[in-house]
Amino acid sequence: MKLGIVVGTIRQGRQTLKQANWVQKTAQQMEGVEVEIVDLADYPLPFFAEPVSPRYNPERKPEPAAQKWLDKIAEFDAYVFVTPEYNHSIPGVLKNAFDYFDWQMKRKPAAIVSHGTVGGARAAMHLKEIISEARAVPIPEFVALAHMSDVIDDDGNLSAEAAANPYGPQTALGNLLTELQWYSNALLTAK
Ligand SMILES: Cc1cc2nc3c(=O)[nH]c(=O)nc-3n(C[C@H](O)[C@H](O)[C@H](O)COP(=O)(O)O)c2cc1C
Repeated sequence: MKLGIVVGTIRQGRQTLKQANWVQKTAQQMEGVEVEIVDLADYPLPFFAEPVSPRYNPERKPEPAAQKWLDKIAEFDAYVFVTPEYNHSIPGVLKNAFDYFDWQMKRKPAAIVSHGTVGGARAAMHLKEIISEARAVPIPEFVALAHMSDVIDDDGNLSAEAAANPYGPQTALGNLLTELQWYSNALLTAK
């Protein structure tokens, strides 16, 4: 499985990058997984303003910045979107990045790792709908994290206590990635 981990925020001092690093470290330990972080901060996109909706525009010629983003996303078999909750939804920068997609994610599975005061659950529910509209396959499992800044360092290492908790975030993330790999294998086989 070629796995892309999308970092859903760009602001200075963001927490989301730490959590993406943790997802990457965990995925790297799985057999048959090739993993890459895709940081929206490396793909500065203007607000989407193309004259035609991308999925209904066979003549589409995206601007170079958009094409770079689309080409990167098209490379993967599966995705984890790491997102916080901003005003009860996903950050605008992440929604804008989705608005550029045409068929890059079609029939590929996508999972969500969310965080926020209540685990980012409201953002995660919105993101599931958005993933569906990208014609990707949002998997049922998701990981919602509250108060993670207390237990994770900048490199994405969990505290020993959090890592050892059988009902804690490490177990939940392991289950999520195992499910994602199952869906990825199933969908690749079907193709
Ligand atoms: C603009 C903004 C809006 C936010 N709105 C919410 C919210 O509605 N619900 C919530 O639980 N947390 C909210 N938060 C808290 C964020 O989820 C939390 O700060 C998280 O770490 C932000 O991710 P980031 O550090 O990668 O930017 C908000 C934070 C920001 C900056």
